[in-house]
Amino acid sequence: MENLFADRVHPETASRLAGLFPVMDYDDAIKFTAGAPAENLFPSDEMKQAYLAAMAAEGDHTFQYHTVEGPYELRERLAKRARERMKITDAKPENVMLTAGGQQGIDLVAKLLLNKGDAMVVEAPTYVGALASFDMYEPTYYEVNLEADGMAIDQLETLLRAHPDIKFLYTVADFHNPGGVTLSLAKRQRLVELANQYDFMILEDTPYRDLRYVGESLPTIKSFDTEGRVIFLSSFSKVLMPALRLGWLVADEKVLKQLYKLKEGADLEVPNLTAAAVNNFLANNSLDDHIAKLNQEYLIRQQAMLKAIATYMPEGVTATKPEGGFFTWVTVPESINTTDLLYNEATPNQHIAYVPSKNFYAYKDHTNGMRLNFTGLTPAQIDDGMKRLGTLLADRLTKVIN
Ligand SMILES: Cc1ncc(COP(=O)(O)O)c(C=O)c1O
Repeated sequence: MENLFADRVHPETASRLAGLFPVMDYDDAIKFTAGAPAENLFPSDEMKQAYLAAMAAEGDHTFQYHTVEGPYELRERLAKRARERMKITDAKPENVMLTAGGQQGIDLVAKLLLNKGDAMVVEAPTYVGALASFDMYEPTYYEVNLEADGMAIDQLETLLRAHPDIKFLYTVADFHNPGGVTLSLAKRQRLVELANQYDFMILEDTPYRDLRYVGESLPTIKSFDTEGRVIFLSSFSKVLMPALRLGWLVADEKVLKQLYKLKEGADLEVPNLTAAAVNNFLANNSLDDHIAKLNQEYLIRQQAMLKAIATYMPEGVTATKPEGGFFTWVTVPESINTTDLLYNEATPNQHIAYVPSKNFYAYKDHTNGMRLNFTGLTPAQIDDGMKRLGTLLADRLTKVIN
C-alpha cells in the first residue's frame, strides 16, 4: 500500500520530530530537552474566564462555523501590537492573519512559495519543526551558518550570487531555536537589502521575541521591509499557552489573500472559540505585564545556565549566550557524536538529556552539537545537570586525547 503514498512522505524515513526527546524515568533525571514554557506560569484562571465569556457571548451561534479570518477585534489588537512592539508601522488588521500555531504559519508560507526542487535558505542549525514542514515540499536547501550575531550574512551573499534562483529564506531572528543567538540590527537591514536585490521572500519567525531577559529589543526584519517581501510570524504558544494553538502573521495584503486560500483548503477556519477567548483575555489582562512576569522568572534560569556553562564546560566546548528565549547551543569537538553520547552515556549513566544536533540541520550532517533548554528547570536542576554534562564531556575529551 505504501507505493500509493506521495513521494513527499518518504515512508522509510522517520519524522524529524520523532524521538527528539528521549524517554527517561529516573528519579534524579534532568531534562534539558523541552521547548515547552513553564506550566506554573500559565495564566490558567484568567484564560478559563476568557473562554467562559467567549462561550456565553453569542448563545448557540457561538458554536457555529464563523470565518476563516477570525475576530476582527483580535486582528485589530495584533495590528496595534505589530505597530507598537514590532515597529511594523503600517500594519493594519487587514495585514494580520491568525493561524493554528506558528507552525501552521510556517507550513502555509512554505506551501505558498515552494515547488518541488525550489531553492531556499535555512540557517544551520535551524528550527526542526520548520524543516519537518519544508521537507514535505521537497525544496533544495542551502544552509547559512549561525554566528554569535545571527546568520553569516557574507556567506548568504556568496550563496545568492552563486544561486540566483533562491526564492525563500527562513530565519528565527530573535533568540534562535536552537541556536540561542539574535540577528544584529545591521544584519537585519542588510538582509532586507539582499532580498530586494536578489528577489527572494523572507519568513521571520519570532515566537521567542518578547522573551528578552537582558538588553534592548531590536526592530523586526519586517520593519525594514520596503517591498512586501517579509512575512512576520508570531505565536501565543510561548508567551501564553501552547494548547491555544494560535499564531499570527503580518504580511502584505496580496500575500495574505493567497495564504487565506491555502488556509481554507487546509482547515477552513481559525478556531473561532479560541480566538474569541484570546481576544477576551487580551481585553481584560495586560499581555505585557504577563510577559514581564515570565521574563523575571526566566532571567533567573538564564543566569543560572550562563553561570553553569562558565563553571562546568571543559576546554574545547563552546556555548552560545542567549539574551532571551529558551535555548543555548553547545558545540563540542567533532570527535564526539552527540547522538551516540546521549543514548550510550548521558541518559543511562548521567540521567541527563538534551536534543542532539543532527535533526536541526537540513542534511542531518552535523553530529557535534546539542540544544539545551534552560527555562523548564530550576536553577538548582540547571546547576546539577550541567555539572553532570560537564563531567561527562571532560571525561570523553580526556579519553580522546589519550
Ligand atoms: C522557532 C519556532 N517556530 C515555531 C514554533 C511553533 O510553535 P507553535 O506552533 O506552538 O506556535 C516553535 C515551537 O517550538 C519554534 O520554536
